[in-house]
Amino acid sequence: MLLHLKQLLTSEELHQVRQILDAADAPWIDGRSSAGAQAAQVKNNEQLAQNSPQAAQLRPLILRALQREPLFFSAALPRKIYNPLFNRYRPEAPTYGPHIDGAVLHSHADDQWVRTDVSCTVFLAEPDEYDGGELTIHDTFGPQRVKLPAGDAVLYPGTSLHSVAPVTRGARLASFLWIESMVRSDEQRRLLFELDMQLLRLRQQHGETSETTALTGVYHNLLRMWAST
Ligand code: NI
Repeated sequence: MLLHLKQLLTSEELHQVRQILDAADAPWIDGRSSAGAQAAQVKNNEQLAQNSPQAAQLRPLILRALQREPLFFSAALPRKIYNPLFNRYRPEAPTYGPHIDGAVLHSHADDQWVRTDVSCTVFLAEPDEYDGGELTIHDTFGPQRVKLPAGDAVLYPGTSLHSVAPVTRGARLASFLWIESMVRSDEQRRLLFELDMQLLRLRQQHGETSETTALTGVYHNLLRMWAST
């Protein structure tokens, strides 16, 4: 499932992020330093040094934004979140070819292993600031090309093959992270998300009824059956 989270960051947050990432002293390093052997062959971008004060300042801002977004919780059912990372694509280091992210990654910032069930990209540059740079996700319905307004995010299954199209002008800035979900299966998470969204709509239309109460019970009992904590 692909899910678009609109205006995940407020304009003030986005402004703050951009001041840090656009500054001359932002510590951008070769993105290959954090890639596995297969990915390193197709990866040519830059990443913000994880151990820098800039990264330490930006991580909580992204995490707070995710945590206040109810759609994020409903879709990802997070158990653990990998510390957000930041990348930049420019014509000098323009692309990341097709790859699948490592299944289990070690997050140095908080010293934990995270299974990458769900991937998240938060766009930090406006689409007209750069040419190219579409996140291309190869899913069962064919390739999906994603290029969102700054401050918006996309969630997609960690199991999917994906790439970033070459940037030919300007700079594409983004934060990316992974979520280990309480519900490992994408299919099961999707069913729970559908049920949750339809319940929300039923409540908006009819208020609380004995049917919505019963269906909420079904939601929780499915979650109980499928979730591990
Ligand atoms: Ni990736």
